[in-house]
Amino acid sequence: MRILTGIQPSGAPHLGNYFGYFKQNIELLGAEENLLMIADLHALTTMHDPDQLREFRQELSKDFLACGFDPSRGTLFFQSYIPEHAELAWILSCVTPMGLLERAVSFKDKVQQGLEANVGLFSYPVLQAADILIYDADVVPIGKDQKQHVEIARDIAIKFNNRYGKNILVAPEPRISEAAVVPGIDGKKMSKSYGNTIPLFADEKAVKKAIMGIVTDSKGVEEPKDPKECIVYQIHSLLLDESGKKELAKKYQAGGLGYGDAKKMLFEAFMDYFRPMRERRALLKDAEVIAVITEGSKRAKNIAEQTMERVRQAVGLR
Ligand code: ADP
Ligand code: TRP
Repeated sequence: MRILTGIQPSGAPHLGNYFGYFKQNIELLGAEENLLMIADLHALTTMHDPDQLREFRQELSKDFLACGFDPSRGTLFFQSYIPEHAELAWILSCVTPMGLLERAVSFKDKVQQGLEANVGLFSYPVLQAADILIYDADVVPIGKDQKQHVEIARDIAIKFNNRYGKNILVAPEPRISEAAVVPGIDGKKMSKSYGNTIPLFADEKAVKKAIMGIVTDSKGVEEPKDPKECIVYQIHSLLLDESGKKELAKKYQAGGLGYGDAKKMLFEAFMDYFRPMRERRALLKDAEVIAVITEGSKRAKNIAEQTMERVRQAVGLR
């Protein structure tokens, strides 16, 4: 079984990205054939600073390696290093009905947020379909927000096969992350675009500032607190096992734990959890990261070229 997933290089990763994406994709390594793509072509839809794009994709590669992505057990690569993605996206766009894209919620959301409605943003799901179909991926592990995109890829594969012949493209299945949505320090979904994140690899001071800034109600130190209602607890519990969670919940319920101390405990737990990754990251050299991406992109290109030959043949370009 082949697994493929992708992520945009859109800035420093945070706790939500770690528990909603990084962790399970790293845990999948080795069990199955695993491809992890940094979607730099997709990033062009919204990111228009070339130096920033170059930096973000390099930094994100480092983040994955620091978090435990083992390049001998999976393939990490840049989307743009395999130009066949764009070629397949064009061919697929010629079998994709406009209506399928008009129903895509992420386009509507982004335009509503005030982003420029460029054609790239509109046809984003077609490029994503190409990313998936070019590797004959059986399964695509993603967060809930990406489910519709994988369904569109599936629809496009089926339409393509109906027009050009059975079994040319593999219709993929989404595998939706079971991780709950991680709340940000303001209680909304944690997201770079809301500026409410706890970054994984920022310096200690910045991490502490974010954690100390988590919003709470105005209960006094002695008052019992309902852990389920408390964002500090919800975030802290991500870092604990079942018995640790129970113990912490009891402390909240008993009273006597003020929010200031609860946040300090969370900060310590954060540091304990991420210290090994933070240390590993500090030691990673740019040249090592480039070597991993170069090797990964070579492996990915090998697969992509074979699919493209099949597709060119099928549509009449050979
Ligand atoms: P952001 O919203 O910060 O820009 P992305 O959209 O780049 O994050 O998300 C990358 C991956 O991380 C996606 O698979 C997404 O589902 C997951 N993710 C992002 N934020 C959260 C969150 N708060 N809780 C759980 N998963 C998240
Ligand atoms: N659109 C995805 C996101 O923003 C990133 C992505 C691009 C992707 N290509 C993909 C995810 C292919 C899964 C498969 O998170």
